[in-house]
Amino acid sequence: MTDHKLDHMIAKSKTLSPVDELTKAQVKVELKRLTLELESHDKHYYQEDAPKITDAEYDALRKRFNAIEARFPEFVTGDSPSQKIGAQPSGRFAKVRHAVPMLSLDNAFAEDDVVDFAARIRRFLRLGDDDKIDFSAEPKIDGLSMSLRYEGGELVTAATRGDGAEGEDVTANIRTLKDVPKLLKGRNVPEVCEVRGEVYMTKQAFLALNERQKAAGDTVFANPRNSAAGSLRQKDAAITASRPLGFFAYAWGQMSAMPADTQSGMIGWFERCGFRTNPLTKLCHSVEQLIAFHRKIEEQRGKLDYDIDGVVYKVDRIDWQERLGFVSRTPRWAIAHKFPAERAITVLRDIEIQVGRTGSFTPVGKLEPIGVGGVIVQNVTLHNEDYIKGIGGDGEQLREGRDIRIGDTVIVQRAGDVIPQVVDVVLDKRPRNAKVFHFPKKCPCPLHTDVVREETATGEEGARARCTGEFACPYQKIEHLKLFASRRAFDIEGLGEKQIEFFFEKEWVREPADIFTLPARNNRIRLEENEGYGETSVRNLFAAIEERRRIALERFIFALGMRHVGETTALVLARGYGSWKAFHDACLKVAKGDEEAIAEMDALDQIGDTVIASIKAYFGESHNRGIVERLTKEVTIVDAEKPKSNSAIAGKTVVFTGSLEKMTRDEAKAMAERLGAKAAGSVSKKTDYVVAGPGAGSKLADAKKHGVEVLTEDEWLDLIGQ
Ligand code: IVH
Repeated sequence: MTDHKLDHMIAKSKTLSPVDELTKAQVKVELKRLTLELESHDKHYYQEDAPKITDAEYDALRKRFNAIEARFPEFVTGDSPSQKIGAQPSGRFAKVRHAVPMLSLDNAFAEDDVVDFAARIRRFLRLGDDDKIDFSAEPKIDGLSMSLRYEGGELVTAATRGDGAEGEDVTANIRTLKDVPKLLKGRNVPEVCEVRGEVYMTKQAFLALNERQKAAGDTVFANPRNSAAGSLRQKDAAITASRPLGFFAYAWGQMSAMPADTQSGMIGWFERCGFRTNPLTKLCHSVEQLIAFHRKIEEQRGKLDYDIDGVVYKVDRIDWQERLGFVSRTPRWAIAHKFPAERAITVLRDIEIQVGRTGSFTPVGKLEPIGVGGVIVQNVTLHNEDYIKGIGGDGEQLREGRDIRIGDTVIVQRAGDVIPQVVDVVLDKRPRNAKVFHFPKKCPCPLHTDVVREETATGEEGARARCTGEFACPYQKIEHLKLFASRRAFDIEGLGEKQIEFFFEKEWVREPADIFTLPARNNRIRLEENEGYGETSVRNLFAAIEERRRIALERFIFALGMRHVGETTALVLARGYGSWKAFHDACLKVAKGDEEAIAEMDALDQIGDTVIASIKAYFGESHNRGIVERLTKEVTIVDAEKPKSNSAIAGKTVVFTGSLEKMTRDEAKAMAERLGAKAAGSVSKKTDYVVAGPGAGSKLADAKKHGVEVLTEDEWLDLIGQ
């Protein structure tokens, strides 16, 4: 069906009579029409990934269809959309908030990193050299993580990881996996169990699926991970059911009771419940055994029928896991020991300059396309001017004695999700006409501003070049708008990089607020008259924009695109200040150099000079303040969720000083944060408690100066009920 016809039908359906008033003759025609429409939208959404109507519009069609069928069951046919196996009730996958966030793992690449990991744990827990730490060592499956929620032993929700806080509800699809029990086996299973693990596709199934896809002229997947993701994101669970997906259980989220007190015990329990766990999982008793495990699994890697990209080590004792806790988004008690990066040889065809959101230049190598570790690579980062010239500062460095020229044969490396890079040049193969690349002195943007090299922390000239156009540079503006609309920030469906470039060129969107005023200006713009747009797609886009007028504070802060304020930092700031007003007031004060506001920001965990300098620079600039002011008129910013806690110290600010006897200072800080307090680095009048051990110095004096309550370690432990 053409879009035009669909538009016409939808328009017509809006003027249709209420279900109660339909005659039998009308019902027949109406059901047929709705069936065709729903099928067409399902195809656009699931197979083409290009929906033509919004979720709400789709839901309305479905609702009308269901209401008619319910009233006239005699008209329900075998091929009705309501009869499809596993058909979902409506629309896109609903969002599911994870009861316990799904976090990721820190990486170790070298054996020394593993030694450090174990030493850090030992220090944190204050273990002696003779105390043994057991680790569960497991293959790191290269699939998609999944959280399965069971209530009363019954599978109720399956959710993807999403951004860690919120994932997509793929329950109907997950129910088709044979490795996932619908009911947990065994008696006395806790009332609430969230079992987490990895959904994957075997290499063999991946190859067979691609053959079938190719034969049918459908999407061919780049690797088993993508094919697993694509198979799971099917609207029609019958398609998921036809794709052989496996599941290994290896972790948990919310549990109303713990059936074991070790990681290995939990793995045993998962098996008793009816899950598959990875058969290569092994309990190791020393760092040497961990490293031997890594070597052994690496040897077996090629022979396994599923992709793995490393191994994971987890402290086995769960009480230790709890004490160790998390640093930002990764646990202190686990680490992924990755396998070495995969490499391939190809030719460098050209070098282009990419201007980033903050004006920094990245030279991008254009390659003769080459497969590296199952993915086709065409672009590589060449980092900076010095990297290309083969002269090194302390940053990234090419193999010694090499430089990169256009036409060179290069060795490309790809490690996990890291952007591929050139690590070496095959000098023997350098053609005579290989061209030395001259780094631009002017920004390629229409302003042709001068290019400067950034200063390093020590004030020397750094390797990174930047455009000096700042907010006047259109490249920077476009890059910021792309980030703003992206999945990790405002997540505006249908406003991808291409659309941003197009809207920017047309001067319809020059700054974030313009996105929200676009619908109201459309009677002048008439977007639907442009190639690639129709009435439905414009309606979809505007509905997506409307949907995002409410935004969580952390996403909003991240979306501003300040340098050094990534998602984690944005989250820390959002939690630290709670509301946009509090954060904004603080930023304006910081920009004016207000010492107290700076000290307060500095007191937030993980916020230091670099972030503060960046916030100061951003809010010190009137142009940026204007952008923010216009934007905040268009959106509603939702306050950050304060960490939930009933503890006596929730919401309080604590400073630890001197040496503690029962635990390390890091552990005390982590414990305070778990209980909802803020562990600060310096004492101000906003500090609630100073916990002082022997050897406390100036902070104790500061506490007295500001009249802050001082506690001994034991008093502190009493206060938090430990
Ligand atoms: S544990 C708190 N164990 O790796 C961390 N993750 O880089 C819980 N993964 O998102 C994760 N195999 O998708 C864990 N045996 C394993 C794993 C594993 C694969 C994935 C998982 C996670 C990612 C982190």
